Amino acid sequence: MVLVGLAFLVIWLVVHPRRLVFTVDDAYIDHYNLTKDHLTATFDLSLRSFNPNRRIAVYYDDVQVTVEYDDQDLANSTAEPFFQGRKNETKLHVMPQAQDVALRRRVSRNLRIERSAGAVQLKVRLRAKVRYKVGIWKSRHRTLKVYCAPVLGLFRRGRTFESSGCDVEI
Ligand SMILES: *[C@@H]1O[C@H](CO)[C@@H](O)[C@H](O)[C@H]1NC(C)=O
Ligand SMILES: *[C@@H]1O[C@H](CO)[C@@H](O)[C@H](O)[C@H]1NC(C)=O
Ligand SMILES: *[C@@H]1O[C@H](CO)[C@@H](O)[C@H](O)[C@H]1NC(C)=O
Repeated sequence: MVLVGLAFLVIWLVVHPRRLVFTVDDAYIDHYNLTKDHLTATFDLSLRSFNPNRRIAVYYDDVQVTVEYDDQDLANSTAEPFFQGRKNETKLHVMPQAQDVALRRRVSRNLRIERSAGAVQLKVRLRAKVRYKVGIWKSRHRTLKVYCAPVLGLFRRGRTFESSGCDVEI
């Protein structure tokens, strides 16, 4: 048992794991309707995920994306599970929808003010159950937490957007 643990430790040191990298490339807000502190909207998000590892591939088994504004959740959606090879970059496109979500008064007021200025500062969270694959060995599930902020939500396509980097924790 100890030997097996030690073997894994040695392997782990040899493969030298590096943190996964996430960015949000685009964030658009469609079908926006904020009426009486209730929000309906579709968030059109393009994310990019990069695996910088030379020896580790990653299974993303359960991927959930949440859009927040201030400290309130606006919308959720799940992405298809995927396998990410070594040095691979994968694009993810998700469209979480807020369906008549009751907003706190303050959140609603702030959102309205930002909306009238033309763009909204969102926060995007991604949570995934991931497994690492090194050669034929596969790790157990770990929870990957990705937090991207601020993400500028635009109401018109064609405006320039600077990719937002994300904090990644595992
Ligand atoms: C916006 O939402 C309100 C309340 O749900 C609804 O009455 C109104 O028709 C909606 N407006 C548009 C343009 O969809
Ligand atoms: C998002 O999903 C979580 C857990 O599934 C749920 O608790 C929460 O109410 C959802 N939020 C929205 C805005 O749909
Ligand atoms: C990453 O992997 C996906 C799925 O296997 C593949 O479609 C894509 O072309 C790969 N991208 C790069 C940059 O290697």
